[in-house]
Amino acid sequence: MAVDRETGKSLFFVVNGERIELSSVDPSTTLLEFLRSQTRFKSVKLGCGEGGCGACVVLLSKYDPVLDQVEDFTASSCLTLLCSVHGCAITTTEGLGNSKDGLHAIHQRLAGFHASQCGFCTPGMCVSLSAALVNAEKTNRPDPSPGFSKLTVSEAEKAIAGNLCRCTGYRSIADACKSFAADVDMEDLGLNSFWRNGESKEVKIKRLPFYDRNREICAFPEFLKKEIRSSMVLDSKRFFWHNPVSLIELQSLLDSLETKDGSLVKLVAGNTGMGYYKEIECNDRYIDLRYIPEISSIKTDLTGIEIGATVTISKTIEALKKENKAEFHSNGEMMFKKIAGHMEKIASGFIRNTASIGGNLVMAQRKHFPSDIATILLAVDSLVDIMSGTRHEKIMLEEFLERSPMDSKTVLLNVRIPTWESIRNISSDTNSILLFETYRAAPRPLGNALPYLNAAFMAEVSSCRTSGGIIVYNCQLAFGAYGTKHAIRARKVEEFLAGKTLSVAVLYEAIKLVRATVIPNDGTSSPVYRSSLAVGFLFHFFSPLVDNNGETSNGLLDGHMNDLLVDVSKLDQNTLQLDHDKIPTFLSSAKQVLELSTEYYPVGEPITKAGAAIQASGEAVYVGDIPSPANCLHGAFIYSTKPLARVRGIKFQPKPYPDGVVAVITSEDIPKGGENTGSKTIFGTEPLFAEELTECAGQRLALVVADTQKRADMAIKFSVVDYDLENLERPILSVEEAVRRSSLFEVPPSLFPKQVGDLSKGMAEADQKILSAEIKLGSQYYFYMETQTALAVPDEDNCMVVYSSSQVPEWTQVVIARCLGIPEHNVRVITRRVGGGFGGKAIKAMPVAAACALAAHKLRRPVRMYLDRKTDMIMAGGRHPMKITYSVGFKSNGKITALQLEILINAGCFVDISPIIPHNVLSALKKYDWGALFFDIKVCKTNHSSKSAMRAPGEAQGSFIAEAVIEHVAAALSMEVDSVRRINLHTYSSLNFFYEGIADQPLDYTLPSIWNKLVTSSSLLHRTKMVVEFNRNNKWRKRGISQIPIVHEVTLRPTPGKVSILHDGSIVVEVGGIELGQGLWTKVKQMTAFALSSIQYDRVGDLLDKVRVIQSDTLSLIQGGFTSGSTTSESSCEAVRLCCNILVERLGPLRERLKEQMGSVAWEMLIDQDFLQSKGIFSQLSCPLTPQQNGVVERKNQHLLDVAHLQSVNLSASSLFVPDLNSMKYLNYGAAVSEVEVNLLTGGTTVLQTDIIYDCGQSLNPAVDLGQIEGAFVQGLGFFMLEEYLTDSNGLVVAEGTWTYKIPTLDTIPKNFNVEVLNTGRHQKRVLSSKASGEPPLLLAASVHCATRAAIKEARKQLVSWSGQDGSTTNATIFELEVPATMPVVKGLCGLESVERYLEWIIGTK
Ligand SMILES: Cc1cc2nc3c(=O)[nH]c(=O)nc-3n(C[C@H](O)[C@H](O)[C@H](O)COP(=O)(O)OP(=O)(O)OC[C@H]3O[C@@H](n4cnc5c(N)ncnc54)[C@H](O)[C@@H]3O)c2cc1C
Ligand code: FES
Ligand code: FES
Repeated sequence: MAVDRETGKSLFFVVNGERIELSSVDPSTTLLEFLRSQTRFKSVKLGCGEGGCGACVVLLSKYDPVLDQVEDFTASSCLTLLCSVHGCAITTTEGLGNSKDGLHAIHQRLAGFHASQCGFCTPGMCVSLSAALVNAEKTNRPDPSPGFSKLTVSEAEKAIAGNLCRCTGYRSIADACKSFAADVDMEDLGLNSFWRNGESKEVKIKRLPFYDRNREICAFPEFLKKEIRSSMVLDSKRFFWHNPVSLIELQSLLDSLETKDGSLVKLVAGNTGMGYYKEIECNDRYIDLRYIPEISSIKTDLTGIEIGATVTISKTIEALKKENKAEFHSNGEMMFKKIAGHMEKIASGFIRNTASIGGNLVMAQRKHFPSDIATILLAVDSLVDIMSGTRHEKIMLEEFLERSPMDSKTVLLNVRIPTWESIRNISSDTNSILLFETYRAAPRPLGNALPYLNAAFMAEVSSCRTSGGIIVYNCQLAFGAYGTKHAIRARKVEEFLAGKTLSVAVLYEAIKLVRATVIPNDGTSSPVYRSSLAVGFLFHFFSPLVDNNGETSNGLLDGHMNDLLVDVSKLDQNTLQLDHDKIPTFLSSAKQVLELSTEYYPVGEPITKAGAAIQASGEAVYVGDIPSPANCLHGAFIYSTKPLARVRGIKFQPKPYPDGVVAVITSEDIPKGGENTGSKTIFGTEPLFAEELTECAGQRLALVVADTQKRADMAIKFSVVDYDLENLERPILSVEEAVRRSSLFEVPPSLFPKQVGDLSKGMAEADQKILSAEIKLGSQYYFYMETQTALAVPDEDNCMVVYSSSQVPEWTQVVIARCLGIPEHNVRVITRRVGGGFGGKAIKAMPVAAACALAAHKLRRPVRMYLDRKTDMIMAGGRHPMKITYSVGFKSNGKITALQLEILINAGCFVDISPIIPHNVLSALKKYDWGALFFDIKVCKTNHSSKSAMRAPGEAQGSFIAEAVIEHVAAALSMEVDSVRRINLHTYSSLNFFYEGIADQPLDYTLPSIWNKLVTSSSLLHRTKMVVEFNRNNKWRKRGISQIPIVHEVTLRPTPGKVSILHDGSIVVEVGGIELGQGLWTKVKQMTAFALSSIQYDRVGDLLDKVRVIQSDTLSLIQGGFTSGSTTSESSCEAVRLCCNILVERLGPLRERLKEQMGSVAWEMLIDQDFLQSKGIFSQLSCPLTPQQNGVVERKNQHLLDVAHLQSVNLSASSLFVPDLNSMKYLNYGAAVSEVEVNLLTGGTTVLQTDIIYDCGQSLNPAVDLGQIEGAFVQGLGFFMLEEYLTDSNGLVVAEGTWTYKIPTLDTIPKNFNVEVLNTGRHQKRVLSSKASGEPPLLLAASVHCATRAAIKEARKQLVSWSGQDGSTTNATIFELEVPATMPVVKGLCGLESVERYLEWIIGTK
């Protein structure tokens, strides 16, 4: 029946139970945009806008009126188009509960497990978990014990596998999720604020916030069901959105719309393709394909499965996994399950839930998307149905992919996966069996990463009765995603293998053919690596079937099918699993050891982080959540794409002024008296906008101001910058060139590190030397989940209020005042919380705030800005890359006698904080006793974006350089690296020599004891033996284990504080430090309660609840300084302690008097000046008195006197903590052991276990410090192993989003992750004996890199031995392992042709 879709309904849906109806909307509006800008539900955060982070995840519920069923699933609201949620119910974390009406157990547990730091990822985590809980409830599993759900541990972990968190390191989040699982072992749950170690399981369960399964997470509203049953038809005319319900309707729509007005029409299913292509053309109309039954279902019969094009990947997985024993032969079932298994590695759950199979294949066909689905379906001879006008065609997928890109009117209807039996070659042996396997090599095994290459192989084989070998009857080999137009079948290899009996020689020939077939297109990164993956996968597939006549000890593949020859009927498909499948995908165990101290109670308690619960419930307000004031405008930067050029002008195309644009602000708009300043440090300034010349790609040229953020961002894409390169010098794009052209930043002598000892003497003492070895270190991007953001609101009298997500509000204020040419007291910068900083919200946040302020000043309207991820990545600068050349002298026992370094630091084009980097590098490098240390460090000024402080700036590199030198020395001496480390660890006296004046007392040097303790607690010696054993028994997987120490210097800085006590006894605290997620407010609260408790208030815990730390406001508390360098928490605590001491002193006499009169004094009585009144004492005074009452009144009169006194007590105290010059610097110590496994066929590294011991002194809050340690370590893991912050030849960042920049996810952290927070007792000069934890543990992640090097060394030795040489040759053991040690890097060192070398060796030995 034809439906008149032009008279349909308004768009309606429900958000957290509230019905929303819209009479019109731009059809390109996403759900995220709508929720954030039009509703109060701001918990959905914009982390990437491309489906890669999970910060925006919502729970979508859909009602099917025919089945009377509700389907609940997660979706990324940044890609979901608003019109596509017509009739749906949406639940965000606000919908689960809140602090006013009651938090949900999910919120409480995430907070209590210390699983929220900055909190920007937390709402998304909560929603992902809630969806898993909802769906677990729908299963028919038995009812769990009260308080638990039907969820399994594995599902709980999978629920958050695609969600990024940059702060926590994931372990704590995984624990919070697992606490809901019916099958959880309570002993496996980590540190939390619910129970103490040693409590029984029953007690623990009781203490967990109760999860009530009967309280539905998202009850689908009855009214909505009713409305859906009556009619769902959306008025397509008003919404430019069509929901055809049949193919015929679709056809006529396509015809009519095209001819009508030539408007741009887009077919849409899940719209996740936008995440990759981010098309800039605005489509005028959309046709939602998901209502057409013919293409939205899955049909199964004996010959295969037909999947409608709009069926989601999740639904496809479900169908493929279903037990279909009745319908399929077991081969078919096996194949389908493997396809499903592969599909589970595509994107993340919240993408797969909306992403369609058809959308994926169309992207692969039309735009050469590196699809997994195309490859695996190609291997199994899939067919597709397409419709063009009235023409229907059924063609092979291969032909579909090879055709020229389909036009916009062609529709993919379905894809059919045949069973093996239905396509089987009838000539083949009836005893033959089917082998099928799929492969993908990606930076993260599960967490949302496109593969470098994927493959799927199907082969029909049987054993040859005469030769005993294995015959391949036929095979189908598909490869894709390696930098080719589309997935391909390796026909030549297939033909070669068909009919052959497998042998090493045959395999060798096949592999040569593969290498010649899988050749990435020009411009593809790591092309040789990708080809080598193809070889490795083919080898992995066929080698277990090859008769090697026992020539190798354990078969061609480790541990697989050793005595393979080979009764094919016994071949178990599972034996052909990829090696890494044997390792648990997620964290499998973790231990946290803390030693608590009650000396300064409640300081030292592992209390829950302040604000964690409201972060989880989405109530926490970040800058971007502050509602826009009336008339608010939005800004976006236009940046240079050239490193050095004159800018002639900026235009927009095709329209001279894109829709919504109000102004384009440049340096010419700086008001009279103002300066073109975007940021400032003690070393210099950086302009807000380039003036005549751009100095780097990524430099700000202008700010486009428009009526919405979307239009501002869109305008940028239409901007065209006219550059002039004539008569300009070449830009400086390398440190070598900078040195050649003497382009250097000056380092003030006071900051330049001192040489240590006598180099020539040290070199003379050496038995051996390594001369001029090189190391190169790349950059790292902060990847805070909240990008740079600010809101500037003009105020009366030429003032400006700026809300900035900043680590340095004070300096931001200075910059804005300078820029606008107004006094600093006209500028109020407010920062409440920051969605992750890591150094990137210090200097780099200033220009964003300044640009908003400048635009607001000029336009006299509020202006806000939220950088899109790409712009943020391009401008951020990040960690300093450097090149190091070193020479080292050493004795034959491994003792190093002298180290000489030349370090060239790439600082980029502006000075920022770069002059501190030499000191930091050297400081961390001095962790070993080098005998003598001599260095030359240059801070190079290049035409790259200016680099800034990133967590452990310089120290991360310095500590790594030290390890690289040690490893080199060990390799040169053929010694165990650990013994070289041990022999070069400092004694206290050498420590004093290297860290003159800051080494504290001998007892404070805890590193040697940490080192020894860790050897025991990590069972290092035993595991080292096991690693040797493992490597002996395995050819294609090698393990390495490594222990490293760190010494990390930190400096305390002056910090202000202010404590005020209000009428009711509640306390409000302001500090210089900013809450970045590091738990600063929590420690400050604890310190306030502790310090005020010296007034002999006996319920200190209550006092803790009375403290609130409030936002930083530069006009309320001045001299806030930088929140950086790991010490701001302790210095803020100390500032607060000083304030409290003042208050205690002021209140002391009053307390004494009250105590004398009343015996004991309650806090409220002491504080509340209205106390007596509130108790009715004043009114009683006017009544006639009995003799007994008379005595009371005398006492009461005394209270009145007290009140009078009290009224003159100043209950607000402020202070500036200025650290003692002699103790403001100190050293932190820690050590880590990491064990990794490297897959030699892919280059993939898995961190099997990490054990950390870190000295926190007497931790101010061990839970917070533990979170810092784990989070910093995982961020370091990213730096050393995963994160490639790549630029093009112009220095323009090309790793510009979640697709190309891979921070760690849950599946890449250590599988066993054990951390001990060491309490090393009293440290006299430290704040309540505490030590820092924010940055130093990041350095420990170098242990993973070192362990990887050890594994690679084994691989190289083996490789050399295959060529008949001695494996211990220096060639094999001395090599540079880059940072990050990505898969291509690791594989490159293990041997890109290792498979060929191995087979040649076998053939040769035969
Ligand atoms: C973060 C992320 C990670 C990903 N990782 C992977 C991965 O590792 N491997 C992998 O293979 N894929 C990956 N994908 C791709 C994902 O599978 C596709 O985006 C998705 O399947 C597209 O389906 P959709 O329904 O959202 O398509 P849409 O976005 O709605 O459509 C995509 C394109 O196809 C057109 N189209 C859609 N359906 C039809 C049809 N039936 N006929 C004609 N044209 C049609 C649309 O007009 C549009 O041009 C990832 C995607 C995201 C967002
Ligand atoms: S913002 Fe949607 S997934 Fe990142
Ligand atoms: S707490 Fe997860 S990103 Fe900050």
